[in-house]
Amino acid sequence: MSRPYIITIASEKGGVGKTTLATNLAIYLKGLSEDLPVTLFSFDNHFTVDQMFRLSKTVNSQDVSQLFTGNNPAELLVTGQYGVDYIQSSHNLFENQHRVQSADQLGQIIAGSSLRGLIIIDTSPTLDIYTRNALYAADRVIVPIKDAPSLENCRNLTDFLVQQNRSKSVLKLLPCLIDTRIHFDGPFRNSYQLLKAYAINRGYRCFEGFIAKSPKVESLSTNPTGKIYPVMTHGRNTEVHLQFTHLARQVYLDYLEQGPTRLKQVAHDLYHQEEHVLQQYQVRINNLQSTCLCCQTPVPEDGIWPNAYFLENKTGNFSGFIEEDCFFELLLHDFYPELNGKEQQKLLQEILVGAVNRPFLLLQKTQIDTEQAQVDLFRLDQQGEKISGRSILLKKRKRSQRQGEKGLLHLFSQAAKDQPEKFQQLLVRQTDKNPLNLLQHQSYLEWKTIFNRVQIDHTLAGC
Ligand SMILES: Nc1ncnc2c1ncn2[C@@H]1O[C@H](COP(=O)(O)OP(=O)(O)OP(=O)(O)O)[C@@H](O)[C@H]1O
Ligand SMILES: [Mg+2]
Repeated sequence: MSRPYIITIASEKGGVGKTTLATNLAIYLKGLSEDLPVTLFSFDNHFTVDQMFRLSKTVNSQDVSQLFTGNNPAELLVTGQYGVDYIQSSHNLFENQHRVQSADQLGQIIAGSSLRGLIIIDTSPTLDIYTRNALYAADRVIVPIKDAPSLENCRNLTDFLVQQNRSKSVLKLLPCLIDTRIHFDGPFRNSYQLLKAYAINRGYRCFEGFIAKSPKVESLSTNPTGKIYPVMTHGRNTEVHLQFTHLARQVYLDYLEQGPTRLKQVAHDLYHQEEHVLQQYQVRINNLQSTCLCCQTPVPEDGIWPNAYFLENKTGNFSGFIEEDCFFELLLHDFYPELNGKEQQKLLQEILVGAVNRPFLLLQKTQIDTEQAQVDLFRLDQQGEKISGRSILLKKRKRSQRQGEKGLLHLFSQAAKDQPEKFQQLLVRQTDKNPLNLLQHQSYLEWKTIFNRVQIDHTLAGC
């Protein structure tokens, strides 16, 4: 399956010509191969893309911020002028940043979509989460440099790519906004040659040629119609037209030579990630004890065990379910002997649950000496902070009393898996309709996060 080739235009320096390059390059590339779909969108908060490519005045309600909300990217495309498809720009990218959790999302979304051909992504002059996504997904990153500071800024882009185990050669630099009237004495006669020499000296790859600073090109974005005109149609008699033609050929040749490899890699990594997630889930399922940890009733085969409690030790090598009645009996017996009578379970439920639905509970055992242990029961909030607690001293029962023992110490000794431990913690939570849901990747991550956050301290809050 052929995937799109992604070209990201990036620089942390503002005003170096990124958007001018992205928009015009789209048109020149389309001109080189009419049948090749060319798609353009911008993570910048300007609307240059829309002003250059919009065919009608009607504004579609879908924009680039919806790339991260589960929408099919192909449905966001608008057919634009000059044969270029585009996704409308957005005012709300900044406010919606929190929705984008990691840099690999865009690549995975596009890899799983029906988008084809060339995709050009314009970015803002920051290494924000959108730029990082655009860099992560890119087969080629074009960095316009107009002076020494913009060249120095390339280092952060390189560092990001290296962190993602990518080669520095994904970046290709292009001197832009070059004032060809300025000449120097010495080996480098103009700023283009000087910049290129600096860049090569620092181990960067560069395109052949440059984009000159041209008053005509600058004027294309200011006119009474409110449109922004492309160099190809309105600046044909400038040197910039020839420079863009030359650049587009190089970009197109790179595409033909390398092909779209990045999203193949992303899709491959995603597949293995998902496979790994599935394997981990299977390990958790296999690790479960097959019966209630107290009464030995087998866990129902269909996995439906309403109101059962899931429990696990800190290393995750012991886990299983306890029937609701067994769990209450276990706690009532040792922790709440004062709760007698018919209403006791209801009361206990109220104490345990409080205002929170399905709270996390922590059972903690500290061995004091060979004869006795302190056992604490804490109710935790959703961040793993202890809200309330109760503690008891439990004495080791004599061998003669242990027949059929179902108490808390027995539970801890099962969870220690034959390795008597001085300090043990068990996290407990009531399951929802299907107990196995708790073992699914996302819920289990939440579970582990809570468990890891639980502080080890022996001070008890009064219940
Ligand atoms: N070749 C050129 N000749 C003259 N002016 C140019 C040229 N390329 C871009 N400009 C002008 O330079 C300004 C900055 O260009 P552009 O918006 O493309 O930069 P940018 O890197 O996208 O900026 P930002 O970082 O703010 O997004 C614009 O006014 C644009 O019209
Ligand atoms: Mg821009």
